[in-house]
Amino acid sequence: VSVVEEHVSEMVGTGREDEEYADVDWDNLGFSLVRTDYMFATRSSGEGNFEQGCLSRYGNIELNPAAGILNYGQAKASKHGLIEGMKAYRGENGRVLLFRPELNAMRMKKGAERMCMHSPSVQQFIEGVKQTVLANRRWVPPPGKGSLYLRPLLFGSGASLGLSAASEFTFLVFGSPVQNYFKEGTSALDLYVEEVIPRAYIGGSGGVKAISNYGPVLEVMRRAKARGFSDVLYLDAETKKNIEEVSASNIFLVKGNTIVTPATTGTILGGITRKSVIEIAIDLGYKVEERVVPVEELKEAEEVFCTGTATGVVSVGSITYQNTRTEYKVGDGLVTQQLRSILVGIQTGSIQDTKNWVLEI
Ligand code: COI
Repeated sequence: VSVVEEHVSEMVGTGREDEEYADVDWDNLGFSLVRTDYMFATRSSGEGNFEQGCLSRYGNIELNPAAGILNYGQAKASKHGLIEGMKAYRGENGRVLLFRPELNAMRMKKGAERMCMHSPSVQQFIEGVKQTVLANRRWVPPPGKGSLYLRPLLFGSGASLGLSAASEFTFLVFGSPVQNYFKEGTSALDLYVEEVIPRAYIGGSGGVKAISNYGPVLEVMRRAKARGFSDVLYLDAETKKNIEEVSASNIFLVKGNTIVTPATTGTILGGITRKSVIEIAIDLGYKVEERVVPVEELKEAEEVFCTGTATGVVSVGSITYQNTRTEYKVGDGLVTQQLRSILVGIQTGSIQDTKNWVLEI
């Protein structure tokens, strides 16, 4: 069983660019790459200012063999690669909506500072994303069939041989229509607690969306998936006693009226879905605790769920730690479902956006 198997097949849609929808089997989208029509790119050099940028046909890009991203991009001390993840949704009335794009722009900026990279301004980031969505509008799935997942990238495209910051950075945005992230679809996940290999280290890049956070967990995920688990829950590197996050999502425990999630103190990614779910939960009257969460506390939760842009709000059915499997409630009427339906309602425009989270484009 390969971890990547679910995500590798590349589909090519057909049809005319002026039609409302691309010719895609909307009922059978997973999280594989579907080639869309256009991508957006802009470069910075010198002082770090990014050019205006433009769209081009979606396709391969050319890189100098000494580009920062190729030489140092996948090392632990990676300086040269950041990703973002966002989704554009089609509302019932045909409106195309982005969800809190300024938070992705600011997160990329913060990550760039940590990684010694130049980054586009918030406005340039949002403009690049908007242009990508508008040019690929026919790839935004019909209401209820998924979303156009957007992947803004920032990487060192300038050449350097010694370990130093690149002289030029590229900001690139592409998209792909997607539906469920996990092959489990909307079914609950079975998580495995990894006790040996941590995802992040104190002082490392765990808190920013660096590409170097993802490569090192692939082997751990492969092993867990080969044993039938959906994904891996990582522990803190120092004590191996506290839960941190799942490979591509944050984690929450529901205990009565209290919702608990690990605090983002540098080793955990500050997810935008995480932040939004916390804000919705507080509005609904739940008590939300962001703190250290001992792995032993997993036994006390009634419900557990994960949050992420790619994954959405997804129920966890069981967690296995030291050969002991703890099961959780899943299904209708639970807290997880309540939070998910409000979040998705706001994102797709069916629930009034009183918080100014949604940007119509
Ligand atoms: C996202 O949730 O958008 C991410 O970037 C996670 C990625 C590993 C799929």
